[in-house]
Amino acid sequence: MTIMPENAAEKLLFALDVDALAKATPFIEALSPYVGCFKIGLELMNAVGTPQAVQHVLRHGGQVFADCKLNDIPNTVRGASRVISAMGVKYFNVHASSGIEAIKAAAEEKGSAKLLVVTVLTSLDDTASQGIFGKTARDKVLDFANEAIEGGADGLICSSQELELLGPIPEFKNLLKVTPGIRPTWAQSDDQKRTMTPKEAIQAGATHLVIGRPISNPPRGIGSPIDAAKAILEEISSCQL
Ligand code: C5P
Repeated sequence: MTIMPENAAEKLLFALDVDALAKATPFIEALSPYVGCFKIGLELMNAVGTPQAVQHVLRHGGQVFADCKLNDIPNTVRGASRVISAMGVKYFNVHASSGIEAIKAAAEEKGSAKLLVVTVLTSLDDTASQGIFGKTARDKVLDFANEAIEGGADGLICSSQELELLGPIPEFKNLLKVTPGIRPTWAQSDDQKRTMTPKEAIQAGATHLVIGRPISNPPRGIGSPIDAAKAILEEISSCQL
């Protein structure tokens, strides 16, 4: 089964890693037809304010993934989730390490948004994961995936390396699996270390890809950000599932 072009765009989440609304505008206006969402993160949220950032994307025709990474006691996560989901975002997220009660609180307040659970940050190696969680990253991701389901979340943020671990487990079949660290063969790796191409990640089970610099700053041979997004959509559409 191949992926239809309109479904391919839904799977592409563009990382809007900028620190000012004026820098965001050209990307939103150019890329809205080609991406499912604009992921706004801690940089833009703290630079201009989360409501302002969300409204800016919505006003310019985009949809929003609020990469707010909530990590607090359940009551505070509940309140923040209520406020963020009411802004009209499509996705927002909570750290699994906040605990199952915080995930449940976020899920109860998610409204029409989809709740994603951040598992083990890909910047943590096994030594760091052992130190923080007492388990390797792979083992802890499985624990967090179970908690995401029990807590009523819609999906996970995970590295492409974990997709093959999660894929065969029937309980995780319906979870969204949102994966950063994606690099088309034509892009430079930047500071991403363990990358997969869009095609590899989709075939390994990713439902959505977070991609920033290969689109915002593509190599000259690819062309503009629109050309880069189109090339990635073609690659996604070429996947056989
Ligand atoms: O530019 P690039 O494609 O590397 O952007 C990836 C986006 O995904 C960035 O916003 C980055 O912060 C985010 N991210 C990541 N790795 C994680 C979690 C989030 O690259 N483990």
